[in-house]
Amino acid sequence: MDHKVFIFAVSLLLLFYLGCGEAPSLKMTNAVCKSYNQSWVVFHYCRLKAYSRTKTSLNLNLTFTEPANNISVHVKSMKKANGYKPFLFDFTLDACEFMRRRNHPVAKIIWNMIRNVSTVNHTCPYTGLQMLSDFHNVDIPLPLPSGDYLVLMDWLFDRKPQFATNVYFTYVEDLLPSSSKH
Ligand SMILES: *[C@@H]1O[C@H](CO)[C@@H](O)[C@H](O)[C@H]1NC(C)=O
Ligand SMILES: *[C@@H]1O[C@H](CO)[C@@H](O)[C@H](O)[C@H]1NC(C)=O
Ligand SMILES: *[C@@H]1O[C@H](CO)[C@@H](O)[C@H](O)[C@H]1NC(C)=O
Ligand SMILES: *[C@@H]1O[C@H](CO)[C@@H](O)[C@H](O)[C@H]1NC(C)=O
Ligand SMILES: *[C@@H]1O[C@H](CO)[C@@H](O)[C@H](O)[C@H]1NC(C)=O
Repeated sequence: MDHKVFIFAVSLLLLFYLGCGEAPSLKMTNAVCKSYNQSWVVFHYCRLKAYSRTKTSLNLNLTFTEPANNISVHVKSMKKANGYKPFLFDFTLDACEFMRRRNHPVAKIIWNMIRNVSTVNHTCPYTGLQMLSDFHNVDIPLPLPSGDYLVLMDWLFDRKPQFATNVYFTYVEDLLPSSSKH
């Protein structure tokens, strides 16, 4: 993939994954997290909360019991059609490098959306409590077909899978005229 396309794809994916709520047409419906290695990653919670009648917010609280210096994430998006089928994205990103390079305009947009609601506002290493609190603020910059989606994120330390954060959401293209986007 061309570099710009890649950055765009990553950004869009992050929007899907992290957003979920500010636009009335996008609603997270389930969040499923799993640690593959309890001696490094412990989840305290991973849940959606009602934010308003049409929105939910994503809330994560987990602990890295030892410092993580080498973090990558495998992201795969799926769309429901007789079960979930691969849709649009399937790539692996060096998360430490991503946090060091905040000079990409689109990444900056994402960054601005999450910086006030996460503890992730620094470069590697990551250690101790990691949180995402009441995250609901998003604007999807692209038309998406209506449907049920799933974003799977598998997190690897030193290239070995450590935990997963998977989020399901429903997207509805056409909204009532009265709905307002923020
Ligand atoms: C699990 O975590 C420990 C650190 O607590 C680490 O030493 C070990 O390599 C990890 N195992 C795997 C399979 O990643
Ligand atoms: C996150 O979990 C830790 C460990 O259980 C707890 O001490 C902390 O209060 C939790 N934070 C929030 C905001 O719930
Ligand atoms: C984050 O907080 C800063 C300082 O309070 C504020 O200026 C900024 O607008 C906030 N960003 C978002 C996306 O809420
Ligand atoms: C990260 O966020 C915390 C809490 O909002 C703030 O105190 C800290 O200065 C921020 N760090 C960076 C590097 O932005
Ligand atoms: C991350 O860890 C893997 C496996 O140990 C290693 O091959 C890779 O070079 C490391 N990456 C960085 C940026 O250190």
